[in-house]
Amino acid sequence: MNRRHLLGLGALGLLGIWAARPSDSGRPYDDYFGALNQLLKQQGGGIPQLVVDMQRLDANAELLAQRLGTKLPLRLVAKSLASDGLLDYLAKKLGTRRFMAFHQPQVNQLARLFEDADLLLGKPLPLSAALGFYQQLGNTTTFEPSRQVTWLIDTPQRLQQYAELATALKQPLQIALEIDLGLARGGFSDPQALGQALTALRTSKAPLTVRGLMGYDAQVAHSPPWIGRDRALADSNARYRAFVATAQTFADLWPADPLLNGAGSLTYALHARGDTPLNEVSVGSALLKPSEFDSDLLAEHLPALWIATPVLKAQTGELPYLRTLQTALQTWDRNRQQAYYLYGGRWQADPVAPAGLSYDSLYGRSANQERVNGSSATALRVDDWVFLRPQLSEGLLDDFAELRLVRNNRLVGRWLPQNMG
Ligand SMILES: Cc1ncc(COP(=O)(O)O)c(C=O)c1O
Repeated sequence: MNRRHLLGLGALGLLGIWAARPSDSGRPYDDYFGALNQLLKQQGGGIPQLVVDMQRLDANAELLAQRLGTKLPLRLVAKSLASDGLLDYLAKKLGTRRFMAFHQPQVNQLARLFEDADLLLGKPLPLSAALGFYQQLGNTTTFEPSRQVTWLIDTPQRLQQYAELATALKQPLQIALEIDLGLARGGFSDPQALGQALTALRTSKAPLTVRGLMGYDAQVAHSPPWIGRDRALADSNARYRAFVATAQTFADLWPADPLLNGAGSLTYALHARGDTPLNEVSVGSALLKPSEFDSDLLAEHLPALWIATPVLKAQTGELPYLRTLQTALQTWDRNRQQAYYLYGGRWQADPVAPAGLSYDSLYGRSANQERVNGSSATALRVDDWVFLRPQLSEGLLDDFAELRLVRNNRLVGRWLPQNMG
């Protein structure tokens, strides 16, 4: 190969690299985030905020109510909506007093907040945590645990423990039995195992009142292509019905009007369509729709929760030790032209506005001053706000001092997150 050929190949290579260069994805704010930016610049207080879009929250709640109709009552999943104000607002709007809790302090908090609530545990708690609930309940409340709390039982051993707790407390406890519909997260694995537990309960004559079953079916939403969602749902529903059929043979223990809880944000729409073994569904996250809930079944739900944080510094996107490569890197990828340093960071959230911002994998993440890169087309300046979409609402809310409520482009209130230590 002579020199001319080599030069030709080199030029071709360069052309290829140039052709593969990322497009400029930077855009100024759209109208929605442009208005929010102006609002927060004036009234945001200059520190990172959790913002709830009340119109979108209302739209999500109305869509949920409309899909469920009167056929499928709703239980609000408190872990995904962990703010007293938010839960109270949604409980009123959606006309429910049913809550699902996953953490003992939250069970106490809900009992204090909603004296007429019906609380179902979404996971089995260690005996000492259940005992802690009774010890912390206090006697100034009208909340009656024997009527208003339902503990979750997943094994014969836990059944035995809760029987002893009921005896020690000298009060009946309500229980629901966790059943495994294919999620493989524990609970009674088949109707026979459920039958054995009910037989043990019958023999023990323990003061435990069976309310019904809880079977979560998130696996249906993640079913592999060779099974398909329809078949996964049919299998899961058939399993649920088989558990119910066995439970019904225990006429002395099984209530006439059992609680048949199931589903979640990921699958409620499938149950709302019709044929379902459930008589209530639990939903939380779909009301705020963090990004892990982007699915075809929730396509009509709207993201209603943002992290908003001010830009502290706007710089050309330099990288330590790589200054010599700087110009080449930025010319090739225009989305590296600017580096913006944010107030706070390292949230489980992704930048969404203005469009075209991303974390810098070469620079790394920071909880103090997170760096995001973007092209000059973002037109972002110091003191503008960057909006991030949380991946989950669970576990996020109490990272913030409060939730700011926005309606019609006005700040209309604040809710506190539930701080349960
Ligand atoms: C038992 C149970 N039910 C329902 C849900 C659904 O919660 P969400 O609607 O927030 O996804 C969950 C989520 O983990 C769960 O564990």
